[in-house]
Amino acid sequence: MRPISRRNALLLGGLGATATVAGGAGLWWSLASGPPQGAGPGQPAGPASSPDFRSPAEVRSADGRLELTLEAAPGRVELGGRQAGALCYNGTLPGPTLRLRPGDELSIRLINNLGEPTNLHVHGLHVSPQGNADNPFVAVLPGQGFDYRYRLPADHPPGVYWYHPHHHGMVAGQIFAGLYGAIIVEDAESVPVSTERVLLVSDTTLDGSGNIAGVSLMERMAGREGELLLLNGQSNPTLTARPGDRERWRIVNACVARFLRLRLDGQQMQLLGMDSGRSADPEPVDELLLAPGNRADLLVTAAAGEAVLQALPYDRGAMPAMMGRGRPQAGGPVALATLRADGEAAATAAAVASRPPPEDLRTATVAARRQLVLSMGGGPGGRGGGMGPMMQFTINGRGYDEARTDTTVASGTVEEWTLVNTSPMDHPFHLHVWPMQLIDDNGRAPGSVVVRDVVNLRANGRVTVRIAFRDFAGRSVYHCHILDHEDLGMMGVIEVR
Ligand code: C2O
Ligand code: CU
Ligand code: CU
Repeated sequence: MRPISRRNALLLGGLGATATVAGGAGLWWSLASGPPQGAGPGQPAGPASSPDFRSPAEVRSADGRLELTLEAAPGRVELGGRQAGALCYNGTLPGPTLRLRPGDELSIRLINNLGEPTNLHVHGLHVSPQGNADNPFVAVLPGQGFDYRYRLPADHPPGVYWYHPHHHGMVAGQIFAGLYGAIIVEDAESVPVSTERVLLVSDTTLDGSGNIAGVSLMERMAGREGELLLLNGQSNPTLTARPGDRERWRIVNACVARFLRLRLDGQQMQLLGMDSGRSADPEPVDELLLAPGNRADLLVTAAAGEAVLQALPYDRGAMPAMMGRGRPQAGGPVALATLRADGEAAATAAAVASRPPPEDLRTATVAARRQLVLSMGGGPGGRGGGMGPMMQFTINGRGYDEARTDTTVASGTVEEWTLVNTSPMDHPFHLHVWPMQLIDDNGRAPGSVVVRDVVNLRANGRVTVRIAFRDFAGRSVYHCHILDHEDLGMMGVIEVR
């Protein structure tokens, strides 16, 4: 079927600009791809034909080193079955997966062939924020290159990480257009599985000519959610397995603002970890919530038949009433992938060895306590008089200023931070370099050690975390990982010294 332009889709659907914020994914897909297969009440809508699952290219370290060039440039790629003009690393979307081991040295030559500044962030890696390491203050101008070098500590936690641009003001747009890739830090002892897959989930919107659509200020304030929900750039690809196969899925939520509430009904899921956090033994789960930026390290044991990996709607709140009707993700479930298990049954996979229990900061000595308040405010007549309807996105009342240091921490200490959200929308809070242990989540203390680098702050919620500021000193940032909010100022500077 010939794709219908977004404009026509909008006309046909009788939708206005605000309604596209409110999750048009189901509508767009059903218009663009004909009646979804097997769609009915409660059934996920998806494109009519399901392509074979495709993995991003992989590069792997050898003898403790990985060296590569990443060129950021516009490219023509297939997105959800359509030819699209996107932004790519090395001509692909997602970019190549980097496989590392603890103790490795990673050298990346970033070449900027975009029409605007960019840079590179290795999200979640526990590496130095200084100099040419994970320094978010570096700006690589168009036509220029930059040599990044990162040294992972010998005890770096294994898990799923990712890389993406971090040039303030352009982060959301560049990721929405396709600039992201996975980083895997391998386990010391491998987990017995039949297949390992990397699943990068992103969303974007294409305009009638197949280019990445622009977004309105209203969409940015709400946090843009694309009409296409993609897995490795594909719409609802099919994964094949044998009944009984145990697979390892490394899932990255690379969406700018969309929360992923994932289910794979009829299959057995066990969680090995999220972000750099690990549990001692795999934990059975039915449903997984990944805020933007979160990753899951998941075991899936295939049962015979067909199962759909679905992203269910998640209510992340709405903008204050005066700001419009934008309530993101009001749509139904979306099919992300289909797992088909048939053929001869596989032998039962060997048991997964227990891992040493993670360090617990609940018994640590706390050197300082602070409170960070995330707010959305302003609007007509707000700060600065002539700001018009522009909403302010702040932490402790201030918008981002790279020249100002907001938080100064003594290196080697443990701190306790209380994160307060005074707004009617969720804000997933992210700190670079130093992972956070969840101590209290809206009055509930987790029963085990929960370590994350993105912690969701529910609308009007409050979360307490502890952070060990060890191994690395220097200046870095914390911010909301709804990347439009970060670009609009919901970010602060930390200096550890
Ligand atoms: Cu994934 Cu500062 O970000
Ligand atoms: Cu990060
Ligand atoms: Cu936010």
